[in-house]
Amino acid sequence: MESIQNQETFSMPRIGDKAPEFKATTTQGDINFPSDYKGEWVILFSHPADFTPVCTSEFMTFAHLEEKFNKANCKLVGLSVDGLYSHIAWLRTIKDKIKFNGMKDVEVKFPLIEDITMNVAKKYGMIQPGEHKTQAVRAVFFIDPQGTVRAIIYYPLSLGRNFDEIYRALIAMQTSDKFNVATPADWEPGKDVIISPAGSCGVAAERMSGTDDLECEDWFFCTKKLDKDLVLKEILKK
Ligand code: BEZ
Repeated sequence: MESIQNQETFSMPRIGDKAPEFKATTTQGDINFPSDYKGEWVILFSHPADFTPVCTSEFMTFAHLEEKFNKANCKLVGLSVDGLYSHIAWLRTIKDKIKFNGMKDVEVKFPLIEDITMNVAKKYGMIQPGEHKTQAVRAVFFIDPQGTVRAIIYYPLSLGRNFDEIYRALIAMQTSDKFNVATPADWEPGKDVIISPAGSCGVAAERMSGTDDLECEDWFFCTKKLDKDLVLKEILKK
């Protein structure tokens, strides 16, 4: 039988679950998660270790984009299995010394959780022993304003994340919620959206007979236009 410790290591919230609760110390003070973020989206992401190059490039990129995420009503929270003083020293070094991709003097203002006990990392399945026994993989949890996990992305240690995709996914989920649509492959604001498949033979026939604002390839595959400015107006704060 699997030990309790292993069950903890491997447990992870799934899409649709409530985000596991925890209290933590961060570089911006203590937080209660997810209750401190009620009413906002939050991206909780882990990285393997402080003072490592891929993680440094990721933190600089996320810090550079923080305002853009905040405008989409989304806060960022980082985590690694390191202590608070290591986090502080690393963030100071990033600001004082590191240049990457045209960025320099980058100040990381979002909270970075100290998780030396792995309490949070284990709750969120961020420790994946086949990859590393004590370092968190690069996990990204998208948690909605009701505290529900809406999407999860995992990357291995050696692969830096694509932050354009993280932002795209956030905007796409908010668009789905706001306009009751789905978003097709590679969707971005301004591109056509998918409407839910016909749920009855009558609706299928109706759709194929031609409805003003829909374009149907077949009864189950219908798209409609959704104005980019409308999407951005509804989703982005002024
Ligand atoms: C890095 O962030 O550079 C890194 C961390 C752990 C393993 C490999 C790379």
